[in-house]
This record gives sequence, C-alpha cells and structure tokens, in this order.
Amino acid sequence: MHSAPIWDPQQYLHHSSHRTRPFLDLLARIPELPAAKEGRPARIADIGCGPGNVTALLAERWPDAHITGFDLSREMLELADKEHAGTTPGGGWLDFRRADAAHWTPDEPYDLIVSNAALQWVPNHPESFPIWLDGLTTGGTLAFQVPANFTSPSHALLGELCETPQWRPRLADQGRRFVHILDATDYLGRLTDLGCTADVWETVYSQLLQGEDPVLDWVKGTALRPVLTALEGDDEAVAEFLSQYRDLLRKAYPPGPHGTVFPFRRIFAIAHKEY
Ligand SMILES: C[S@@+](CC[C@H](N)C(=O)[O-])C[C@H]1O[C@@H](n2cnc3c(N)ncnc32)[C@H](O)[C@@H]1O
Repeated sequence: MHSAPIWDPQQYLHHSSHRTRPFLDLLARIPELPAAKEGRPARIADIGCGPGNVTALLAERWPDAHITGFDLSREMLELADKEHAGTTPGGGWLDFRRADAAHWTPDEPYDLIVSNAALQWVPNHPESFPIWLDGLTTGGTLAFQVPANFTSPSHALLGELCETPQWRPRLADQGRRFVHILDATDYLGRLTDLGCTADVWETVYSQLLQGEDPVLDWVKGTALRPVLTALEGDDEAVAEFLSQYRDLLRKAYPPGPHGTVFPFRRIFAIAHKEY
C-alpha cells in the first residue's frame, strides 16, 4: 500500500492555461442542469478539485450554484480554500472538503458531479459510477476528463526509469501510479449500461510549451508526485533521478523554433441521467 503523493499546488499551476483548456471543452458539452428548469440554484460536486481554480470556473457557468470541491490532498485544499472559498460574484457559494474519491458517496442530491484530470489517480473509479449516478437529481449529469497519454514518451520513460535496477528497489511502480483509466469505448459502454445518455470523446492537444525542460516542469506537477514523495528528504537521490529523467525527456522532446511540442491525449465523458 502506497502513501498518498504529496502535491505542490504552485508547481501544478505552472501550466494552468494548458491544463484548464480541457476543462472548458468538457464544460461546453454539459447540458442545462435540472436546477434551471426547477428555478433553484444548482448543487455541484467537483471530485479531485486540486487548487480550486477550475472549480471556480463552474461558478461562471452556474453563477448562483452551491459548489463543493472534494480532494484528498491537504496542500491542494489549503490553497483552494484560501483563493476560492466563499460567496461567488453571482450569489452562489464555493466550499472545499477533504474526501477520498475512492470512497466518496454523494451526501445529498447533486445536479452535476464533475471531475477534471483526477480519476486517473483513483483505481476502480468506474465501480463508483452507479453510486454517483444514484446521487444525481433526475436530469443531472456526471462529467469527467482524464489524461490518456500514458503510452507517450513522457510517461513511458518515467515508468521505465523507475523499473531500472538502480531505482526499482525504491520506486518500483511509482512511475505508473496514475494509470487507472479505461478506453473511451469502455467508458461509453459502462455509462450506457447504467442507463445514461453518454457522450464520450478523445482529443489530442498539440501543446507548445516554453522555457527550459518544460516537459519535466509539467510532470513535476503531476506524474512525478509519487516519485518525489517516495524520495522525499533524500535530496541527492531526487537530484540524480531528475537529472536522468531530464536527459531522457530532452531526447524525446527536443525544443523546436517556437517552443517544445508536447502532445497530450485526453478522454472526456458526459453521462446524462434522463428525465
Ligand atoms: C492533476 S490534479 C487535478 C486538479 C483539478 N481538478 C484541476 O483540473 O486542476 C489531480 C487531483 O486529484 C487529487 N486526487 C488524487 N487522488 C485522489 C483521491 N483518491 N481522492 C480525491 N482526490 C484525489 C489530487 O490530490 C489532485 O489535487
């Protein structure tokens, strides 16, 4: 059993504009919530809300909604609370609570349960779909986005480096801790089997990153968290691991004339509980 990775919200936010784009693309496909028809504020849950910046975007689409972000990381929740908790400009309310998505069950009826770039960290999350759908109001929606680039060099090289004789004893599967996704068609099957109208798709973003070793900087905010957590306190080992990984990434993602191209595939799923 591994301990939960320690997150660094500031590092994670380095690439916030690239990381926010898929959330906006997800949001654009979410249908009107039942609350609007019923003339009441919407109730929304954001699972794995991180530093709360995308949670706050929900208040732009549903200004008077009561929105709760749930996350396991105290570091993430601390920043989310500081930056985003409280009343929203449209008269709604934003709050944050600690919860493990693996065991989270809706504590009240929600019009929307949403999750952005978090469920890949939650083994067996599809087994929670029936529970989450049960927790939706009639006409409500479950919507999520997960990264699906685990065979790309950035993530494959991380997994392979952790498996080398030098690192295996300390890191073993730490480089693959976040690989708990299904194929897009499997998500579609699961959600339609549960009686939903489902809209599932994939997008590859051709991201252009700037700066020195930008792919390393990207993964330091996400996929590298378990490795950095496992090596915490051993600065020499961290420096050595990062140096080896950096060399591999430089070869896989050489800088071009306009920056470093870092393609990133993501899966989107929207399940609508029909009236
Ligand atoms: C890549 S961040 C995404 C944050 C935010 N949703 C966003 O789009 O910016 C992944 C988040 O999932 C959270 N997370 C990972 N495993 C979790 C779990 N079992 N329960 C709740 N949150 C979890 C992490 O703490 C982290 O904040």
